Amino acid sequence: MKTVVITGAGGILCGTLAKALAQHGYQIAVLDLKKEAADAIATEINAAGGKAIGFVANVLEKESLEAARKQINVQLGTCDILINGAGGNHPLGTTSQSFLHEEDLLNTTEGFKTFFDLDAEGISFVFNLNFIGTLLPTQIFSRDMIGKKECSILNISSMNAFTPLTKIPAYSGAKAAVSNFTQWLAVHFSKVGIRVNALAPGFFLTDQNRSLLTHSDGALTPRGTTIIAQTPMGRFGEPEDLISTTLYLCDPASSFVTGVVIPIDGGFSAYSGV
Ligand SMILES: NC(=O)c1ccc[n+]([C@@H]2O[C@H](COP(=O)([O-])OP(=O)(O)OC[C@H]3O[C@@H](n4cnc5c(N)ncnc54)[C@H](O)[C@@H]3O)[C@@H](O)[C@H]2O)c1
Repeated sequence: MKTVVITGAGGILCGTLAKALAQHGYQIAVLDLKKEAADAIATEINAAGGKAIGFVANVLEKESLEAARKQINVQLGTCDILINGAGGNHPLGTTSQSFLHEEDLLNTTEGFKTFFDLDAEGISFVFNLNFIGTLLPTQIFSRDMIGKKECSILNISSMNAFTPLTKIPAYSGAKAAVSNFTQWLAVHFSKVGIRVNALAPGFFLTDQNRSLLTHSDGALTPRGTTIIAQTPMGRFGEPEDLISTTLYLCDPASSFVTGVVIPIDGGFSAYSGV
């Protein structure tokens, strides 16, 4: 049985992927910063007849990842497939408005943030979580893959890696780095037989963005409305929309596929809006 290590697997998208992979015969190391969230997904998988164990790990700390790897090696064996799912945005890396207007410089409303107010610490937090949080787990878990067959890595990029989204320069830049790193690593690991690919999800309603995209009654915010208008299929993604591409990229069926970043976005990235 192949072992899949999934970071951020206590979350909405990667929790769904963990459950789907378990249903398809993989055993799952469910890693998350929040132990309870990891355990909850593992419990669901085991109750459904799959095999999974929850582990706490911080993708920004090598020692924490190394400790998790040691436990995983003992309890589930070495890692065959790594999914780098931990990531996300933070208000500290976000501007209040899409466009800068001269009068914004005089706006003293509490919390109002222009480009000039972004602080390096906030940018670093978002950049590190998404990019360093992909690089470090890869360093730790891909060591298990050297000398084995049919191993691969799946990163989670985003739409904003192709064209940045307004307001979120740190998250956009970090995901662009994740896409770039996916290609770099695919080349670097090509001689040791480890494939490296990425998903670029469009817009999925999760805890991180629900309040940005919808009101409490479920109606769309102006940003949510703009997104749906720019999505030819006219809806947000459902976590289940990511399953088939993930299964394909983890399976030897895609044995000659490496270095790709696949949009799963209802046509968002293909549409100019005209
Ligand atoms: N939701 C979307 O529309 C969307 C779109 C494109 C890409 N993504 C990406 O998909 C991935 C999953 O996002 P989601 O929407 O399911 O978010 P989520 O918040 O539901 O899941 C993220 C998980 O990562 C965990 N995490 C955070 N920091 C961590 C750390 N330092 N170490 C270990 N775990 C940590 C959180 O505890 C959480 O369980 C992220 O990389 C996100 O950037 C999401």
